[in-house]
Amino acid sequence: MRTIRIFDTTLRDGEQSPGASMNTGEKLQVARQLARLGVDIIEAGFAIASPGDFEAIKTIGGEVEGPIICSLARAKEEDIKRAWEAIKDAPKHRIHTFHSTSDIHLKYQFKVDRETALKRSVEMVRFAKSFTDDVEFSPMDATRTDIAYLCEVVEAVIEAGALTVNIPDTVGYIIPSEFGAMIKEIHDRVKNIDKAVIAVHCHNDLGLASSNSLSAVLNGAGQIECTINGIGERAGNCSMEEVVMAIKTRKDIFNAVTNIRTEEIMRSSRLVTKITGMSVQPNKAIVGANAFSHESGIHQDGLLKEKTTYEIITPETIGLHKTHFVLGKHSGRHAFRTRLKEIGYDLSDDEINSAFERFKKVADQKKEIFDEDLEAIVSEEYTMVPETYSLIDMFVSAGMGKKPEGTVKLKVGDQVIEQTMQGDGPVDAVFMAIARISDTKSKLQKYEVKAITGGTDALGEVVCTLEEDDRSVSGHGADTDIITASAKAYINALNKLAAGKK
Ligand code: KIV
Ligand code: ZN
Repeated sequence: MRTIRIFDTTLRDGEQSPGASMNTGEKLQVARQLARLGVDIIEAGFAIASPGDFEAIKTIGGEVEGPIICSLARAKEEDIKRAWEAIKDAPKHRIHTFHSTSDIHLKYQFKVDRETALKRSVEMVRFAKSFTDDVEFSPMDATRTDIAYLCEVVEAVIEAGALTVNIPDTVGYIIPSEFGAMIKEIHDRVKNIDKAVIAVHCHNDLGLASSNSLSAVLNGAGQIECTINGIGERAGNCSMEEVVMAIKTRKDIFNAVTNIRTEEIMRSSRLVTKITGMSVQPNKAIVGANAFSHESGIHQDGLLKEKTTYEIITPETIGLHKTHFVLGKHSGRHAFRTRLKEIGYDLSDDEINSAFERFKKVADQKKEIFDEDLEAIVSEEYTMVPETYSLIDMFVSAGMGKKPEGTVKLKVGDQVIEQTMQGDGPVDAVFMAIARISDTKSKLQKYEVKAITGGTDALGEVVCTLEEDDRSVSGHGADTDIITASAKAYINALNKLAAGKK
């Protein structure tokens, strides 16, 4: 059986989704989870794109063990040098360089002919090889490239030392049968193909990214590039959970395995949702809230008699367990830490201390603390940024026939500032008060509330996305009171904007 490598680009292509930008701490948390999940390669960013990207790649390379840490680089010397600087301390590293090859891109965007593009690709693969052996090359917009020329480029970059050649469907244009045939043709036509792994990188513009990737696997591809929850540029990238579970569930067809620990899928999905603020649609395959709910009477009847009548994957396979009560207000720090460890969160002493304080406050208001609640409580650790603003206190009055009013007390530097505002609703009033104190010019792009577990005492989790000067960030907050959770989320986003400016 072949092992298909999983190349995760959540932190690079995934981060290119509007509003999904992550800071270094958040990227590090995602990278740690990707390592737990068992991905083979983490594309941690595009080193030359920004100092933030560079720092995140370097930090991940220094702290995350297991996967190969990779940086993207255009086929340019300065990009490749910067990528190398970012990854060189990682125990296992890779440079991923790319150049467009389709006539559309060469003519209109790069204004170079095919020969020049080929020569530059080869030179830059050689240049990358002078730093590390592990070099990947992508002919961008490969699926709209003349196949004879594409094969020529692939052969030449392998000759120059590329150990992985990635065939991207950059604009999500190709369909599965066509892509399978393309990969087969590359496989059959490129003389030195046995010296490299064929990778595929599919975008989801026609909703075919996973099908295309799987069709490529059936025709010789050995690496799939994908993201958690399928986030990414435009309609997103191929979903890791979809291709991994398809390969696992239909082993009879694929005759292949991956190194993914599938019980970590759900946790990875939730973490990426939490950090990016991009929710998963309820009917999304594998990780959607309804993926394992059976509504029809006939299906329920079948399931009660024998699970396999209507269930092709058990929820446990992806780490979805029946929620059960674990902790309460009498639970101590030790039990708290132990349970967190059991569900995969290994926090430092300082992180445990502050998370435990929040746990106690929640436990005072909510009798039963479920695993999902614990995840929400510790998620504040991930989204922590230097606190330009911190919430000291707040009070809201609202009711039928009364204009809602919110009073918020914030600590800003050494000062404590209080402000009362009226709004269209209690959340609006609180947001207006916070906006007034912080004097923010940002615009609220998205506001989402969700109950983490059932019951009226459930923790409410709020994500709000703010935009300022073409930058957008997502803030998070969790509390049994959704107005307090909203205030926390708004303040968290403001702190991220302030940290970005610094
Ligand atoms: O979609 C694409 O072509 C890319 C390349 C940089 C691999 O993301
Ligand atoms: Zn891409």
